[in-house]
Amino acid sequence: MSVSELKRRRTFAVISHPDAGKTTLTEKLLLFSGAIQIAGTVKGRKSNRYATSDWMEIEKQRGISVASSVMQFEYGDCVINLLDTPGHEDFSEDTYRVLTAVDAAVMVIDGANGVEAQTLKLLEVCRSRKTPIVTFINKLDREVREPLELLDEIEQHLGVAAVPFTWPIGMGKDFQGVYDVQRDQVRVFRAGQDTAGGAVETLQALSNEEGERRFGHAWVRAKEEIDLISGATPEFDREQFLAGQQSPVLFGSAINNFGVKEILDALVDLAPPPSMRMTVQRPVQPEESKFTGVVFKVQANMDLAHRDRVAFIRVCSGRFERGMAVKVTRSNKTFRANNVVTFLSQRRETVSEAYPGDIIGIPNHGTLSLGDTLTEGEQLQFVGLPFFAPEIFQTVEVVDPMRAKQLGEALKQLGEEGAIQVFRPEAGGLMILGAVGQLQFEVVSHRLSTEYKVDVRMAPARYRLSRWVTCDDAAELRRFTDSYSARIALDASDAPTYLASHVSEIEVAQKAWPKIVFNELREHSGAPFRKAM
Ligand code: G4P
Repeated sequence: MSVSELKRRRTFAVISHPDAGKTTLTEKLLLFSGAIQIAGTVKGRKSNRYATSDWMEIEKQRGISVASSVMQFEYGDCVINLLDTPGHEDFSEDTYRVLTAVDAAVMVIDGANGVEAQTLKLLEVCRSRKTPIVTFINKLDREVREPLELLDEIEQHLGVAAVPFTWPIGMGKDFQGVYDVQRDQVRVFRAGQDTAGGAVETLQALSNEEGERRFGHAWVRAKEEIDLISGATPEFDREQFLAGQQSPVLFGSAINNFGVKEILDALVDLAPPPSMRMTVQRPVQPEESKFTGVVFKVQANMDLAHRDRVAFIRVCSGRFERGMAVKVTRSNKTFRANNVVTFLSQRRETVSEAYPGDIIGIPNHGTLSLGDTLTEGEQLQFVGLPFFAPEIFQTVEVVDPMRAKQLGEALKQLGEEGAIQVFRPEAGGLMILGAVGQLQFEVVSHRLSTEYKVDVRMAPARYRLSRWVTCDDAAELRRFTDSYSARIALDASDAPTYLASHVSEIEVAQKAWPKIVFNELREHSGAPFRKAM
């Protein structure tokens, strides 16, 4: 396997609270790299591209992107894989899983709003995975919060040391540009710099008088702030950045294409190429000659022209070649990967080879499930694909009892896809669906009706919380699940779950059963869980 191909891969996602500018920035990144020529192409995706799909009707109506996609482009010597994440706060489980497939993330913050709820949630995932993060503070062409305050907020809320790489000179109508701290250079802002590679005026090592003459009060203020922060913020340390403990901060305006190139440069220069990934059996190094990959996302009906399920696979080691025989280690089945696609800009293109860090899509009819590991034969199972304890529960009942079997089958598939979590109460009774956000129920209900022709009634369940229960002592776990059988349900992977209406019930149960672990997070494959059984 070619080490140079590996070293030039950068795989990342842009994360943000809705409306902070993720879509705009994504588009500018593509524009900048030459992957697309016309502004508006990515934005169009929100409204036009899926207009014919029933499922995407929901997306269209709400003006949000439920689907994530992948784009690959070259920048400098690097091949960049950009994973788009759904941006609605209601629908985030998918986003979390996308984050397991990246090596770095760009966090976009709306300068006027600072750190928002969704950003916090996403950051928790990045932090738990030690994903390096580049922070982009957007919308400087508007009146935003004080930069010092924003930095402080990032540090306080996100628990990472924010290291400003650039510093804004003014804001809103008085936004003059940014001072590049390391290069001792000012890049001058000009509104509407909406062209790929548009030249930016730079001024090297400005003296204070020159700066003041040119930018007036905004310069004086910026210089004061820079003096202040240079004493207070730590030096940039790449090791700490790679460990997710420091985040370089860049200021700009995505819509004006200002500060975008710096993000790409930071990714190329600082973000890591693919590295080791853990499996239950052993660490897998990207340089290994044999291909391995992991399914981090499964999506049905991506496109009506291809009515199928597409499994998104991150290549973890070796070299993938179209037509090669790959084994799904869960089912022990081997298939020939002839039909493989990549997502270059917006078109599905046939891929003939892929390297670690790349994402490939394999259309299939249920052969591939979320969390599956693909290898050339070795029995491996990648870990780290999280399922989150749902926060909203609904019972689901089929309208036409003759369709009960179809409902069971449909929920199995949707559960495998990760669209929703499905729980079967041990005591029998209606199936329970669990979601992180309300929108998931709407999507599932719509899909059950349109894709599986099963109409359902959903009603709020009496549960509010769930915990996957595990224990090193299998007999103890069995005693626990027997004692609480009315509250135990099995999820799609048969992992027992304790359902509760209030957190105090969990606390009481925990006190009474100290050896039982109540988990808020479950790994796919249930690796830690199955070991406990
Ligand atoms: P999202 O994907 O994170 O949800 O955000 P998106 O890019 O859709 O941007 C949200 C809104 O913020 C959009 O305005 C977008 O034009 C605007 N925006 C993005 N970057 C900047 C920036 O640098 N400066 C300013 N002033 N605005 C910015 P919208 O009115 O919701 O949509 P549209 O009518 O512009 O398409």
